[in-house]
Amino acid sequence: MPKKPEDAIRPEIRALNGYTVPHSDGMVKLDAMENPYVLPAELRARLGRLVEQAALNRYPDLPAAALKGDLKRVLQVPDGMELVLGNGSDELIQMVCMAAGGQGGVLSVEPTFVMFRMIATFAGTRYVGVDLRDDFSLDIERTLAAIERERPGVVIITYPNNPTGNLFDAGLVERIVEAAPGIVLLDEAYHAFASDSFMSRLPRHPNLLVMRTLSKLGLAGIRLGVLAGHAAVIQELGKVRLPYNINTLTQVVAREMLQHINVLTEQAGTIKLERSRLLEALRGIPGVTAYPSDANFILFRTSQAERVFDGLKQRGVLIRSLHGSHRLLADCLRVTVGTPDENAAFLSALKQTLAA
Ligand SMILES: Cc1ncc(COP(=O)(O)O)c(C=O)c1O
Repeated sequence: MPKKPEDAIRPEIRALNGYTVPHSDGMVKLDAMENPYVLPAELRARLGRLVEQAALNRYPDLPAAALKGDLKRVLQVPDGMELVLGNGSDELIQMVCMAAGGQGGVLSVEPTFVMFRMIATFAGTRYVGVDLRDDFSLDIERTLAAIERERPGVVIITYPNNPTGNLFDAGLVERIVEAAPGIVLLDEAYHAFASDSFMSRLPRHPNLLVMRTLSKLGLAGIRLGVLAGHAAVIQELGKVRLPYNINTLTQVVAREMLQHINVLTEQAGTIKLERSRLLEALRGIPGVTAYPSDANFILFRTSQAERVFDGLKQRGVLIRSLHGSHRLLADCLRVTVGTPDENAAFLSALKQTLAA
């Protein structure tokens, strides 16, 4: 019997700082890469009626064949490829790490989405991070050497990458897919805002998995992640999926929204236009270096990033500070592209803070 109950928790879990979400009530919330637009009233009313009719006394539909069929069509999943669904893509990352991490562990390029390291730790598998180049491009020699040395069960590449916002060179990604001894999980969370995807290349690579989420497209609240791959791998991953992980309300809302996907893709189009305007505005501010983005956020660097972050917060604008999280992100901040009004509020607060 341990001395204290919490001593029973694995040391590597006790060493973690859990994922926390800052308080944002009443603030201009530009920290979480959400779509800032709500759905049209008519569509919300229709969703309300569908939810009203849902059989909540029953377990959810399993295997959610109808939802998967709709997703395959809308996401243009190539013929013959199969899907496994997750309670957000976070859950799919966990499933892949649990099922395929094994002794080789998980390898990713850094800086990237912090949850990869954390989820590998939850799954009890080791994690290796390989640094990107200073310009956030893939360091292919270093990455291939690490793959050869570590023989990871899973390589995770984010396309486009969070928090840097860039798409890696597709040819280099293909070299990684070909060199990897195990699974390559290509996380396309920001696909709605990106100029390229690996979905159509999936049939060529038996070890490749392409992951999408409905979160960034405007449905973060329903928690639906989608993993596409070859049937043999998807079938094995399905074994570690908890039964009924996609609840009835999510299935009902997702199916209806997939019939109206144009509403969300039009919103994504507006966000892309706003991204160009925001990037241009940031680049016009002396002392700010803003990086190009294929996602719905922009990474920028400015001296005294912590002071700037606090100054924005005091002025009611919440973004994300990445300073201190990785050596390549010194003095970096990340802002989600919001509505024109939100972006204007951010830019004005930023100028005031820099002038203070
Ligand atoms: C690269 C990346 N992958 C996955 C996720 C998680 O998304 P979901 O809401 O589908 O769990 C995020 C969220 O920010 C992300 O940035």
